[in-house]
Amino acid sequence: MNRRIKPVEACIESAERKGLERTLGPIQLMLLGVGAVIGTGIFVLTAVGAERAGPGLLLSFVIAATVCAFAALAYAELAAMVPVAGSAYTYSYVVIGELVAWLVGWNLILEYAVAGAAVAVGWSGYMTGLLQSMGIEIPLALKAGMFAVEGGGVNLIAVTATLTVTGLLIVGTRESVYFTTALVFVKMLALGAFIFIAVPRIDWANFQPFMPYGFGTTEEGGVAKGVMAAAALIFFAYIGFDAVSTAAEETRNPNRNVPIGLIGSLIICTTVYVLVAAGAVGTTSYLELAGNTEPLASILRTLGFPTVGNLVALAAIIALPTVVLMMVFAQTRILFVMSRDGLLPEKLSTVHPRFRTPHIITMVTGLFVAVVSGLFSVDEIAELSNTGTLFAFVVVSISVMVLRRAQPDRHRPFRCPTLWLVGPLAVAGCLYLFSSLPKLAQGRFAIWTAIGAVVYFLYGYRRSPLGKQ
Ligand code: ALA
Repeated sequence: MNRRIKPVEACIESAERKGLERTLGPIQLMLLGVGAVIGTGIFVLTAVGAERAGPGLLLSFVIAATVCAFAALAYAELAAMVPVAGSAYTYSYVVIGELVAWLVGWNLILEYAVAGAAVAVGWSGYMTGLLQSMGIEIPLALKAGMFAVEGGGVNLIAVTATLTVTGLLIVGTRESVYFTTALVFVKMLALGAFIFIAVPRIDWANFQPFMPYGFGTTEEGGVAKGVMAAAALIFFAYIGFDAVSTAAEETRNPNRNVPIGLIGSLIICTTVYVLVAAGAVGTTSYLELAGNTEPLASILRTLGFPTVGNLVALAAIIALPTVVLMMVFAQTRILFVMSRDGLLPEKLSTVHPRFRTPHIITMVTGLFVAVVSGLFSVDEIAELSNTGTLFAFVVVSISVMVLRRAQPDRHRPFRCPTLWLVGPLAVAGCLYLFSSLPKLAQGRFAIWTAIGAVVYFLYGYRRSPLGKQ
């Protein structure tokens, strides 16, 4: 079987033929990145992370950010060279070959669709809190999925959010995405207020002991503990910066702006996250944070700022659905390119005659996200999403190195600095994070990837235009 590598030129050409308009600049890209990144990870999973790592959560945030930074540098080199939609999927198609590209694309479903579901579940936690404060009690059967630890039925709140967002995307993608970038400011304001109030009130006693459960992951009865266990989970908070690269095809001067968007949004998010995490574990004992579904709001209330706490909760309620929207949007873009390449039925990328949006892909994605968000708990879905993302990061990092060797003279508008250090560190960091995830998530990833391989050989392998040449 040949490796079926798609030439870079062919990618750029097919994008130009059947492509999207280039309208985005560097600031919009950064906003897009920050808009896709800041969500359930920081607003909700901070509590789960603190439960796993103790105050060492601070270190978990730094470790996850470092791995993402290495991967972002790799992404930037490829995104600048191959500025077309499709991101990691496209890069692996032009460097490694169709099978791996397909598996990356398949696992990007975990990164985007499944992450979207996790954000929807995170949102439902804040929404339930708000309803409760208004005296409306939602029964467990309707606010938690049947596979969530606390038991339940169908998380109707998460499902409703997902389906609403899907509807919006079908009616007007572009407006929805612009709206999302506008709401970035709401999120930043909320996190800024949290930092402003919490950081000056840090009590250093809360940092003792710093790593109550040690550094490496230990797993007992399905519960993972340790700084690395938290890093592997909190990695979720950074997912989405690569959504910038999925918009490469819609970017002006992408060779310069995409690297700025990728790295800039990551720097902004990391700074904010580390300060928020410091404010959270520095003012509140990690033991008190356990099980809290709206930790940032609760901390502010406990610190004596109930109104700001409620406003932060409100900001999360307003802004988190936009992260679901970004995830579903990025997912549709990936599936669109995969169907344009013939690896998925072409019918999927049909554009609605009136709304001019890929409505079939959007509907299928939305339904999938709704089902996942309705049934599982947030940390479990986040971990599954992390597995797929880490896989994509590993393949992208390897692809940059392979392409440097195979085509050293090709023009590179952005060169990853010290690639032979950064590349291997990115791969090693991702593998370390992967190995720090609970066994259940790793097993689910293996099953998902195996199903993907079967689907490829039954469909894509036969249909791919590259196979017919
Ligand atoms: N990084 C995004 C979030 O935390 C997916 O919600």
